[in-house]
Amino acid sequence: MRVLVIGGGGREHALCWAIAASPLCDALYCAPGNAGIAAEATCVPIAADDIDSLVAFAKEQAIDFVVVGPEGPLVAGVVDRLKAVGIKAFGPTAAAARLEGSKAFMKDFFARHNIPTAAYGRFTDAAAAKAFIKAKGAPIVVKASGLAAGKGVSVCTTVAEAETAVDEMMTARVFGDAGDEVVIEEFLAGEEVSFFALVDGTHALPLATAQDHKAVGDGDTGPNTGGMGAYSPAPIVDAALGARIMDEIIRPTVRGMAEEGSPFTGVLFAGLMITANGPKTLEFNVRFGDPECQVLMARLKSDILPALVASVDGQLAQFDLRWMDDAAIVVVMAAKGYPGAYQKGTVIDGLDEAADSDGVSVFHAGTASKDGQIIAAGGRVLGIAATGKTVTAAQKRAYRGVDAIVWPEGFCRRDIGWRAVAREKAGS
Ligand code: AMP
Ligand code: GLY
Repeated sequence: MRVLVIGGGGREHALCWAIAASPLCDALYCAPGNAGIAAEATCVPIAADDIDSLVAFAKEQAIDFVVVGPEGPLVAGVVDRLKAVGIKAFGPTAAAARLEGSKAFMKDFFARHNIPTAAYGRFTDAAAAKAFIKAKGAPIVVKASGLAAGKGVSVCTTVAEAETAVDEMMTARVFGDAGDEVVIEEFLAGEEVSFFALVDGTHALPLATAQDHKAVGDGDTGPNTGGMGAYSPAPIVDAALGARIMDEIIRPTVRGMAEEGSPFTGVLFAGLMITANGPKTLEFNVRFGDPECQVLMARLKSDILPALVASVDGQLAQFDLRWMDDAAIVVVMAAKGYPGAYQKGTVIDGLDEAADSDGVSVFHAGTASKDGQIIAAGGRVLGIAATGKTVTAAQKRAYRGVDAIVWPEGFCRRDIGWRAVAREKAGS
C-alpha cells in the first residue's frame, strides 16, 4: 500500500513511525513532514492546507491511502476531495468535521442527542452575549465558535474578564471569522481526560486513554497551549468510567451523526471533564490529539494501518487493538516564549544521545534540517517519549532523554504526568 500522511507535527511523526512499521506499507510520503519524519517517510513540500496540490500529488503518485493529521484540511473537505477522485482517506468528511469546526454546531448537536455537556448559550451579537454573562455570573467560559488553533477559549473568573473576552473575539476579532459567533458556557470543575475512539460510520472502537497538560507552566499554570506533554493510560478512567463514556457520549454521537446524514469516520477525540456528576463533554476533535497521539502510538502493539483502513471501509466491528500494559509519557520541548512570540532557527544538539537512552523515542514537531544540523522551526519543537512499568518510571526515562538534548533556546515543563505520579505514590 502506498500511503500519504498529511501534516508536519509531532502527531504526524508518531503516525508515520507507526505506519512505517506496518508490513502493509510499501511506500510512505508525508506532506509537508519535518526533519524527524524524513527518517520514516519521503517528505513532500506541500502545505497541509493546500488541498488542490495534495489531491494532485496523491493522484500522480498513485497513493492508495491518505491519513489526515490536522483538523484544518478535514474541516476544509480534503477527505471529500480525495474520495471524489477515488482515493481512500482516513478522517471525517467536511460535514462530519463540523463537530470540531463549529462549536455552535457541536453544542446544538449535544442538545439534540442528550449528550452530557456544560449548559450554554450561543451568540452572534456582543450585547446579547454580555447580557447572558451578567445573568449567569462568574466563573464562566467564553469560546470562539470557529477554529482558533486551540487558543479560542477563555476560562474567566470574573464577569469583567468574560466581557473583555467577548470584546476581543467579537469586536476586535482577534480570531478573525472564528469569533463572529461565540459560545458561552457554564464552568465545570473536575479532572480532564482525552478519550479517543476509531469510528467507521456506525461502530466505535475505543483506544487507550490519555491526559494532556494544556497549560504552559509547571503546576498547570500560565496560558493554554496546544499541549505541553501527555501520558497514557489516564488512571482516572477505570473500566466502569470507560464504559459510561462509550454509552453516554461516544455511541450516541456516532448514532446521531449517522441519523443526521453525516456519518462520522476517522478518530473521534472527546475532551472530557470528569465532574462530580459524571463525564461531561468539553469539546470534540475529529483527529488524533497532539501530543496524545505520541503516547498512544508508543503503547500500541497492533499494526495501526489495517485499523485505519477498517475505519474507512466500515469494518471496525471485527477489530480489536492490543496495547502494552506499560505506561507511556511524552514531554514537549518548545521554543522559549511559546505560546507567545518565539525565535526560529536555533540549533538543537544531543538528539541521538536522547534517542539512545533506554526506552526513549524522540518525535519531531517543529524542526527543519539546515546545513546538516537540526534547527527549531516552530513553537512546539520536540516530544521526548518513553515507556515504563509505571508513569513514574516512564517519567524518569523521558526526562533523562530531555536532559540529553542541548538546546539553550528551548524549555519544557518538569512535571508532566504529576497527577498519575501522585496517585502511584499514594497507592504504593
Ligand atoms: P476546549 O478547546 O473547548 O477543550 O477548551 C480548552 C480548555 O479550556 C479545556 O481543555 C479546559 O481546560 C478549559 N475549558 C473549556 N471549557 C470549560 C468549561 N466549561 N469549564 C471549565 N474549563 C473549561
Ligand atoms: N492536545 C490537545 C489537542 O490536540 O487538541
